[in-house]
Amino acid sequence: MTLAVVTLAAGKGSRMKSDLPKVLHKLAGQPMLAHVLNSASRLADAQQHVVIGHGAETVQQQITGYDVSWAIQSEQKGTGHAVAQAMPQVDADATVLVLYGDVPLIRTETLQKLLDESHAGNALALLTVELDNPHGYGRIVRDEAGNIQAIVEHKDASAEQRNIREVNTGILAVSAAHLNTWLPQLSANNAQGEYYLTDIIAMAVANDVAVRAIHPQDEYEVQGVNDRLQLAALERVFQRQTADALLTAGVSLADPDRLDVRGSLTVGADVSIDIGCVFEGDVVLEDGVHIGPYCVVKNSHIGQGCEVEAYSHIDGAQLGTGCTIGPYARLRPGADLKQAAKVGNFCEVKKAVIGEGSKVNHLTYIGDADIGKEVNVGAGTITCNYDGVNKSTTEIGDGAFIGSNTSLVAPVKVGAGATIGAGSVITRTVADHELSVARGKQRNISGWARPVKK
Ligand code: UD1
Ligand code: CA
Repeated sequence: MTLAVVTLAAGKGSRMKSDLPKVLHKLAGQPMLAHVLNSASRLADAQQHVVIGHGAETVQQQITGYDVSWAIQSEQKGTGHAVAQAMPQVDADATVLVLYGDVPLIRTETLQKLLDESHAGNALALLTVELDNPHGYGRIVRDEAGNIQAIVEHKDASAEQRNIREVNTGILAVSAAHLNTWLPQLSANNAQGEYYLTDIIAMAVANDVAVRAIHPQDEYEVQGVNDRLQLAALERVFQRQTADALLTAGVSLADPDRLDVRGSLTVGADVSIDIGCVFEGDVVLEDGVHIGPYCVVKNSHIGQGCEVEAYSHIDGAQLGTGCTIGPYARLRPGADLKQAAKVGNFCEVKKAVIGEGSKVNHLTYIGDADIGKEVNVGAGTITCNYDGVNKSTTEIGDGAFIGSNTSLVAPVKVGAGATIGAGSVITRTVADHELSVARGKQRNISGWARPVKK
């Protein structure tokens, strides 16, 4: 049996007060809609359909890399009307799972439970929760025996029905065959003048189709986002869940409430992370890595035992075993540090190999360079890799010593074991083991008198 997941995402989201369609607002660095698609994609044989309307083109442009059929709902006439827009593309013998693009924390396990409930006896399965404050939600109306009879929207509910605390989350599973029978029968004769998907519950009851409810693991799974306050609240929930999972996996966190993971963070044993760190994209921290406070690490692989000190920024970098970075270091895409390399404070490294045991410790820019082993790059050294038009490469051999405040004008090569005098501007090849000094000669003028003010 095929599974058709229909995610509703046509709404405007006026309360976000934004030009961006609501479902594209980000939670943990990813659009809310992407979270929903990810959860659903882990269900077996899921074919995904997304109903879009407001900002449809923007949604299609920004949600890429998913195998999704789009259905356009140009006018928002209600949730029943929205699902109906996707039905022509849904297999007639499929089970349909309805999700909301603005309910981002839904778990795959909960959806699987809902599908299992629906498959048992071809039932209509509803995800419901009990809320202390059910205001605004559709209420689940049950008979004395506890069987579900209908869903009544808040605006259509009687005073007595409004006392019901069990509410509709909107997420449900039912066969396409039933939907194809029921959706055309919906009417908009209600308080909001909309085609309510929820009216199919009474139809199911009238048709002797079993209606069953299951509940999520926690209330956050079914919380929708209407404004930025709710989005910010769910962001914190998501981040705390991520932090708890890291702690459970054996990571030390100085404060689980001061960590943000916006992507996938893979960790080895005995990793520790200080406060205020942000991880983006795919990051791997091997065994024993320590990340100091207020670091940003993006799409990088940090080798075993590396020490990343405070306020470092690492993006698209590869670090071998036992490297030391920072404080205040910046590693940009293509930074490739071999074992035990060091990059210290106020150094920037881009598209460059820093060989085993080499040190770039203070106030330096290394770009488009290939630096060998055990090289010492003195304070203030700059690889002049750009002539205003082209980028060129600097090569430095094993064991070279680059004096402080050297400019290496690329393309240029410094041989193994060579020494560069401080303050040099190197424009030509320095052979292995040579000393090169390229600066104005010092002149001392004795008996010189400073000018005096007239
Ligand atoms: C809906 C349910 C209500 C439930 C609540 C849970 C109905 C009639 N009501 O109410 O029982 O308690 O969700 O949050 O289903 N959407 C479209 N096209 C439309 C209308 C809505 O794509 O024409 C999308 C919205 O963008 C949103 C979702 O469907 O993501 C829910 O719509 P919304 O208008 O928020 O429904 P509620 O009135 O909150
Ligand atoms: Ca809503």
